[in-house]
Amino acid sequence: KKEKIMCGIIGIASNKPVSINIINSLKKLEYRGYDSAGLATLTKNNINEKKCSGRVDELEKILFKTPSDGNIGIGHVRWATHGVPNVINAHPHSSDQVSVVHNGIIENSDEIKKELELKELKFKSQTDTEVITLLITEALKENEPLDAVFKTLQKLKGSFALGIIFKNFSDIIIGARRGSPLAVGYSKEENYLGSDSYALKSMTNKISYLDDGELCVLTKDNISFYDDDLKKVNKKIYSMSEDESTTDKGAYKHFMLKEIYEQPITVKNCINEYIDSLKKNINIFNFPIEANKINKIILIGCGTAYHSCLVAKYWFEELTSIDVEIDIASEFRYRKLKFNSNNLYIFVSQSGETADTAAALDICKKNNVKTCSIVNVIESTIARNSDWVLPIHAGTEIGVASTKAFLGQLMVLYILCLKIASIRKDINQSTYEKNIKNLNSIPEAIRKCLNTESNVQLMAKEFLHAKGSMFLGRGSSFPIALEGALKLKELSYLHAEGYPAGEMKHGPLALIEEGLPVIILAPKDKYFQKTLSNMQEVIARGGKILLITDIKKEVINENIRFGVRVPYIDNSLSPFLTTIPLQLLAYHVALLKNCDIDKPRNLAKSVTVE
Ligand code: F6R
Repeated sequence: KKEKIMCGIIGIASNKPVSINIINSLKKLEYRGYDSAGLATLTKNNINEKKCSGRVDELEKILFKTPSDGNIGIGHVRWATHGVPNVINAHPHSSDQVSVVHNGIIENSDEIKKELELKELKFKSQTDTEVITLLITEALKENEPLDAVFKTLQKLKGSFALGIIFKNFSDIIIGARRGSPLAVGYSKEENYLGSDSYALKSMTNKISYLDDGELCVLTKDNISFYDDDLKKVNKKIYSMSEDESTTDKGAYKHFMLKEIYEQPITVKNCINEYIDSLKKNINIFNFPIEANKINKIILIGCGTAYHSCLVAKYWFEELTSIDVEIDIASEFRYRKLKFNSNNLYIFVSQSGETADTAAALDICKKNNVKTCSIVNVIESTIARNSDWVLPIHAGTEIGVASTKAFLGQLMVLYILCLKIASIRKDINQSTYEKNIKNLNSIPEAIRKCLNTESNVQLMAKEFLHAKGSMFLGRGSSFPIALEGALKLKELSYLHAEGYPAGEMKHGPLALIEEGLPVIILAPKDKYFQKTLSNMQEVIARGGKILLITDIKKEVINENIRFGVRVPYIDNSLSPFLTTIPLQLLAYHVALLKNCDIDKPRNLAKSVTVE
């Protein structure tokens, strides 16, 4: 059975030996595949290839015994599609002239293979990739490397990201992409090619992304880009947040506060990974089930990750024609479920190690259904065990309470939802493009939300001597109310209830008494008036109202103790913004109560037990 549909590739052109850095980057790419690994470097105009079945650790052991020199090289982690996972089928695939690493599937490889065999060319492996090696080798007889690669690409059907080195052109790596993702990184006297920016992060934070159909030529000093007509193009260079910074609190008192303040950057990084802003398109490919054929989406997670699933349910229902279910992993794993091979099961987990989520994923695998994981830690068990991985690119989250990972989960879920809606034509092109454009306003809007901190600090005092508190919202603000209540509970050990505002009159209103702090989430969406009516019910019973809204009008009146205003972008995007004051609120209440903020009691960063 084919599981993963991904492989990982890396290329480095440098002025010093590259094999160790190739190994380190491949370890970061193991989330994309880990049944075999390999690398090739150029030494004195020789292609020096090392491959193994199994993990990158095995490859590292081989290199330890017989080191590979060479200042230029490519590497690969594979998840077998064509041909069993053994040494011969592992990448790179080399001839006496070139060495190739490939992520994707060449759909017409059998036909090309037959044609090449007629010319008496011999194949060593069972892979689809080797046809690329032989085609380029043939084309090099009459062409320079870039033309040889370009002519080869014209013959290929299917999807690919490629990294290629050439025996007789010892200073270049050529990269190409169609379908599968490919990024490049820039550094002093060293340039890189990689399946994602994460693989390159320890080496550089300056990244560009290839668009579909594009090629690039890398040397240690320069990267040139070409479009699908081989015309030179310029690329935007993005600065990603630096990983190193996450291991140190900097000027912040706690990791949690630092991570709250990192959110404009982490969300921007995530957008950069998935959005092609020039072409107004979303770079998500290789769906394990064709988007048009998805029957139902089932979103599964625990705690905060479950809340992001709950927000996404509203988005998927609003924007797509697909039925959506959500489940708490510890419930899902014991229910008697009807599995359907046209359903897509999506697992959301920051750590990728949560025992209940991992067990729910195992059940799906046993039932032969397609799985996707949305994780922050991409080397994790859940990422490794799922068919498809969409990383959230939030950087290491150290504070036990999840903050920036929550926003990252929301971002990937929203982007996935837009992509599916557009493929299925549930939304038209102009709505698709407008929604993509709106995403670019989120980082700046989050920054503005962070300016509410001094106001939220005052609000926090209202919770210190309260018996409990309530968080209310409707629509996608309901899961944000749950998340706000969870953050307050876990950090400050105060009782907090999150409720759909419309549910209050069915019992919970009994809890409202004089002075009880009640947070009302009321963005200007279709629920706005209804939420305000629910607010009146609370006011009538003496509740102390703390209102979070994005309406422009002044909202404070004698019945509302505090008002916090967040920017307005679009109705469906309010969860990204209303979350921020709630994270700050939980932080400041916990600070006033002298709680251990980065390590709250009874909660672990990875809940690896049931
Ligand atoms: C809340 C929190 C937990 C986690 C939950 C799932 O701040 O951190 O509720 O969200 O334990 O963890 P992951 O996302 O690692 O699966």
